Amino acid sequence: MPATVVVGLQWGDEGKGKTTDLLAESVAMVVRYQGGDNAGHTIVLGGEVFKLHLVPSGVLYPHITPIIGNGVVVNPQTLLDELAMLRSRGVATERIRVSESAHVIMPYHVALDGAMEARLAGDEIGTTHRGIGPAYADRAWRVGLRMADLLEPDALRAKLERVLPEKNAVLVQTHGLPPFDLDEMVARATEWGHRLRPHIVDTTALVQRALAQGRHVLLEGAQGTLLDLDHGTYPYVTSSNPIAGGACTGGGVGPLQVDEVIGVMKAYATRVGSGPFPTELGDDIGRHLLEKGHEFGTTTGRRRRCGWFDAVPLRLAVAVNSVTSIMLNKLDILSGLPEIRLCVAYRIDGRVVEEFPSSGDLLARAEPVYETFAGWEEDLGGVRREADLPRAARGYVDALEHLAGVPISIVSVGADRTATILRRDRPHRPALGGVVPSIAPPAALELWPSREEPAGIAEDRGSEDDDPVDGGPAGGGDPGGAAS
Ligand code: GDP
Ligand code: IMO
Ligand code: MG
Repeated sequence: MPATVVVGLQWGDEGKGKTTDLLAESVAMVVRYQGGDNAGHTIVLGGEVFKLHLVPSGVLYPHITPIIGNGVVVNPQTLLDELAMLRSRGVATERIRVSESAHVIMPYHVALDGAMEARLAGDEIGTTHRGIGPAYADRAWRVGLRMADLLEPDALRAKLERVLPEKNAVLVQTHGLPPFDLDEMVARATEWGHRLRPHIVDTTALVQRALAQGRHVLLEGAQGTLLDLDHGTYPYVTSSNPIAGGACTGGGVGPLQVDEVIGVMKAYATRVGSGPFPTELGDDIGRHLLEKGHEFGTTTGRRRRCGWFDAVPLRLAVAVNSVTSIMLNKLDILSGLPEIRLCVAYRIDGRVVEEFPSSGDLLARAEPVYETFAGWEEDLGGVRREADLPRAARGYVDALEHLAGVPISIVSVGADRTATILRRDRPHRPALGGVVPSIAPPAALELWPSREEPAGIAEDRGSEDDDPVDGGPAGGGDPGGAAS
């Protein structure tokens, strides 16, 4: 041990990328455990911006082994593009490992995602159109392809021969779209397998080996608790389990191996896509949050809906994730607002409700009951000590902490890794002295064997580099783009 889970407590985009990147300095391995390239995790390092969709946010440290776990759905082309983008910017990618059990997002999943949304016209989920739902549905239906299948062309063809006619029938007959060609699909998938081969391994074995060696493993969630398939605002959710429990199923750890759960939230709320959002603001304050907070999903280009912080689902999120401490991001965005509101209950059909309703219909009728706090004018971007925060900002953080019922141990006041306040009297990991980040990063793990070389390899042979199409800089990697 030890193992830490980083989990979003709201509707995603809480700043998990920054949190993971910050915490990763002192760990050996970072594991993405669910979701796919619907995620967009941003890291800002010395003015350079990295937007990651699939690769875990710890990748920027050379000592980290980044793992894409079995619970992730992988679009192989996105992954190849992201690896190329990272290499073109000087980030080593040879340590990255992808679970052989992770399911593959195939082009027909992407087509079906778009087609199903189009049919819901006016009532759509507002998905990222990345094929996430259809890929997870095929996993549950037991007709999905896994990363290991990409390495066995004959078996791959046999599986596609079974599944593709069904997909084509739906695409053509239900949605009036063109079918996919079997030979072309087998060729494309085989090529992906060829290029990703060194990275595809049994990642559960790696995670377990690291834990057995006493190395610190960080499990990075995508999306957030309110987008969780079970606990979120169904049906306006994603198709996996972002909650901390998802780290066990999707990351290859047991519940008792996790000894810390860091919840990530921002000082206000945002949501992308459809679904109820009781504290949403359509006024100048909403515009302040949108513009000052740069609340745009940059790949899909969608504005994030913005509103006041909602403490009603916070209590649920702390409970279902077993949150041990919280990192509060984007406090700086609230500077300049005359007053700040915090939703502490709902009024639904005339009754005051303090528990987050599981019914979407009830939630859609919820009117927020607010507590109001003093605002502050000062810019917080340069603040590094809690004592230097304006009194009103400290009051707001204390109120959030009180409502959450667990310590807020880290406060972020800017996108850069360094724009961070560690609340020394609230160490998030007392057992390790509460040191975040560590003074000296730990030594790198031995490089894990790749599929090519079963034991003791020193170098990835970089097979994805060999391809002239994507081997160069960024390719379609969209370095500035984050989904959602
Ligand atoms: P994620 O999906 O949870 O990783 O979050 P995103 O990366 O999609 O969105 C968070 C955005 O806020 C990114 O652009 C971050 O660089 C930025 N960010 C994170 N923390 C802070 C902060 O404390 N202040 C400001 N101003 N920006 C932040
Ligand atoms: P990160 O990891 C915010 C939302 C979509 C849509 C719903 C379902 O960056 O926080 P999907 O494509 O998953 O089937 O869409 O989930 N969504 C996100 N919203 N941040 C994300 O990821 C999201 N990933 C999916 O907007 O409402
Ligand atoms: Mg995001």
